[in-house]
Amino acid sequence: MPSPTPPVPAPCAPCAPEDVRRVACVGAGVIGGGWAAHFLARGYDVTAWDPAPDAEARLRRLVAAAWPALERLGLAEGASQDRLTVTGGLEEAVAGAEFVQESAPEKLELKRDLLARLDAAAPAGTVIASSTSGYPMTDMQTGTPGAARLVVGHPFNPPYLIPLVEVVGGELTAPAAVEWASRFYEVAGKSVITMDREVPGFIANRLQEALWREALHMVANGEATVREIDASITEGPGLRWAVMGPMLTFALAGGEGGMAHMLDHFGPSLKSPWTRLEAPELDRALYEAVVAGCDEAAAGRTIADLVAERDRGVIDVLRATGRLPGATATATGEAAR
Ligand SMILES: NC(=O)c1ccc[n+]([C@@H]2O[C@H](COP(=O)([O-])OP(=O)(O)OC[C@H]3O[C@@H](n4cnc5c(N)ncnc54)[C@H](O)[C@@H]3O)[C@@H](O)[C@H]2O)c1
Repeated sequence: MPSPTPPVPAPCAPCAPEDVRRVACVGAGVIGGGWAAHFLARGYDVTAWDPAPDAEARLRRLVAAAWPALERLGLAEGASQDRLTVTGGLEEAVAGAEFVQESAPEKLELKRDLLARLDAAAPAGTVIASSTSGYPMTDMQTGTPGAARLVVGHPFNPPYLIPLVEVVGGELTAPAAVEWASRFYEVAGKSVITMDREVPGFIANRLQEALWREALHMVANGEATVREIDASITEGPGLRWAVMGPMLTFALAGGEGGMAHMLDHFGPSLKSPWTRLEAPELDRALYEAVVAGCDEAAAGRTIADLVAERDRGVIDVLRATGRLPGATATATGEAAR
């Protein structure tokens, strides 16, 4: 399918985003493994490195578990799990890589050291992206000689199904590296938001965190169970959010008056005690209540069962809302008109 935007000149990169063939995934847990599955399904050669002794077996299990969902989505020509190489060292993983995705644990010092090692080992100009959930690149790139090629490419779990990636550079990042990364992710089948400034938590995590904070308050105060909280979203606003974001959804809640009427009507409730803003104390009692509540809500389903169930559901939603090639947009009403 032709791409909507013209190719971005990439003065710093060894090749154009469209010509990338080999991607390195460094850190291969939930997110790094999910990235590897995504890139394999899009037909790239993937090299991966993770220092955990059981990392290779874990990664191959994750990719194999994701593959049925990826087959349902449609594999790129030549895509194969056989194109995954797990290396014994970081240097070997990134040698010859045309793009590097770092997905190591969310610890600032670890990220700083690792990004500096990746900068020393990766081919000149190769863009290196971090999956960090919240650290600004400015805080992670200090002291790295090749800071100009370091960007944040923040995915959502699982990266092989959820299209969004938030891309942003730090103070020392070259704008060309941000442009190159955004274009590369688009070519690799992602839906990209390129941010022009660093915002703690980027966009979506700011929003997710606000919701989660309120949910934890409600569990801590016995106001709602884990099950009720989840049902309140999956049976309620979650259905709308897959079609329109929270802003347009609320604009429709204002009837013919749209958002202006919505603000006149419900604006004053912003000051009512609907939100608590301060995070609750994550004490042992709250911790145990949330974990036990999730076990109860899972009702005997294993994590693998839940992953498969989620993957099937997300694909159904993507298909129903016309976000897959060849899909009909029934949920948005397009098909009905
Ligand atoms: N889990 C999510 O929903 C989610 C979503 C978006 C972004 N992220 C971000 O992705 C990153 C990875 O998170 P995760 O959930 O996959 O964690 P995880 O614990 O599942 O995986 C982390 C992996 O990194 C490996 N590792 C440890 N030290 C390392 C090192 N020095 N170099 C390379 N790898 C190392 C571990 O062995 C492990 O396999 C974090 O920055 C996190 O904030 C997570």
